[in-house]
Amino acid sequence: MSVDVLLGLQWGDEGKGKIVDYLAPKYQVVARFQGGPNAGHTLEFENIKHVLHQIPSGVFRPEIQNIIGNGVVLDPIIFKKEIEGLKNYQLNLKENLFISKKAQLILPSHRLLDAAYEQSKGKDKIGSTLKGIGPTYQDKIGRHGLRVGDVLHSKFMEKYQSLVAEHRKKLSYLSYEYDLESIEKEFFAAVDFLKGFNLIESEYFINAKIQEKVSILAEGAQGSLLDVDFGSYPFVTSSTTIASGACTGLGIAPQHIQEVFGIFKAYCTRVGSGPFPTELMDKTGDYLRQTGHEFGSTTGRPRRCGWLDLPALKYAVMVNGATQLFMMKADVLNELEEIKVCTHYRLPDGSEVDYMPYEICEADIQPIYKTCQGWKQSLQEIKDFDHFPATLRQYIELIEDYIQVPVNLVSTGPNRTQTIVRSQEVMI
Ligand code: GDP
Ligand code: IMO
Ligand code: MG
Repeated sequence: MSVDVLLGLQWGDEGKGKIVDYLAPKYQVVARFQGGPNAGHTLEFENIKHVLHQIPSGVFRPEIQNIIGNGVVLDPIIFKKEIEGLKNYQLNLKENLFISKKAQLILPSHRLLDAAYEQSKGKDKIGSTLKGIGPTYQDKIGRHGLRVGDVLHSKFMEKYQSLVAEHRKKLSYLSYEYDLESIEKEFFAAVDFLKGFNLIESEYFINAKIQEKVSILAEGAQGSLLDVDFGSYPFVTSSTTIASGACTGLGIAPQHIQEVFGIFKAYCTRVGSGPFPTELMDKTGDYLRQTGHEFGSTTGRPRRCGWLDLPALKYAVMVNGATQLFMMKADVLNELEEIKVCTHYRLPDGSEVDYMPYEICEADIQPIYKTCQGWKQSLQEIKDFDHFPATLRQYIELIEDYIQVPVNLVSTGPNRTQTIVRSQEVMI
């Protein structure tokens, strides 16, 4: 057994939480490898709807061990609230949740800095979730961040004060008004709470599991088009969201990665600023937002909506080496007469291309569409691929022909049960 990776191929919110929870029984370990509380992963089953931010989406399956890997940035305050929010489910998280000592800590002053940087950018702001993600990764790369393991050491307070002093200098330079003391009390209470969990060297833990032939699912956060290298920079998050991030974010060697499950919506959404060539600013965009309940799971912001963008999807599949595709939210398109799919972009010089140009953030890039016929029917009674309406099968074939990777799962609703797989054997 080895490690499979599940990640988003678009701008996040593809439905990763739902599918990790759905697939979890096939695994013994679920591990988050990057991102932090900027993520909001929704799970729905047996009349429960729950949004997870930092805790892996395997937690509702009692037999599974969950790891928060070294590549994650962890906010103790949000962690405490999340754990308390789960207390009615009797999940035994002291036993089956493990946190890497090498994960970076998000301090209250990182959140202040996030807000201050965004304020200073004015109309060019990234549209950050304001959870302190960028400043925390900055400190990690700058080699002065605090890590989860530091909370166990006697010099923690000293290290904390010295980092916060640096943050205060930056905040005063940015002329940002703040009140840190009021949040610090909550932060230190949350740090004490965190000490009660399994804080481990997760790279040893996970490699021992690999040796024992335990099956592991690495759960991505955000999406490939928000990757710090390959996303629409600078309108990205600050981590490696693609498959290779699972190696650095968990300490596993590339040869242990087997399947890469790439999740995408049957259309596109994006929260925050940045290019989105197929964005719809019209009634159809509103329709997708209302029908798909496209409002952020973390911030509640309305998500920008548009048609499926195949050049962008193909790019994401390429940088991830996705081996299987899972198409989410097909049901949101049920009522549409026609569905458009972007196959090429027209560049300002009039040329047509099928790749993502470097100039995506600056240039006026126009999508070129192929129009598909809608299926105009509910998918709720359908249990297998063979019974999909012909027009939905054509839609899937168009995607497969373009991307050259099979679509092996179609999701027809938010619930665990609303999941149709092509064949159990192809999955794993
Ligand atoms: P994640 O961040 O990738 O885990 O995705 P989010 O949870 O932020 O957003 C996905 C939203 O779509 C959630 O509200 C899910 O409950 C919902 N969802 C997931 N799959 C489907 C589906 O197939 N159909 C519909 N209608 N909703 C879905
Ligand atoms: P999940 O895991 C969608 C977006 C923000 C912003 C940019 C940078 O639920 O798919 P950050 O707070 O990371 O500095 O924000 O990235 N963003 C997400 N969009 N889903 C997410 O996570 C996101 N996490 C960050 O909206 O545009
Ligand atoms: Mg989300």
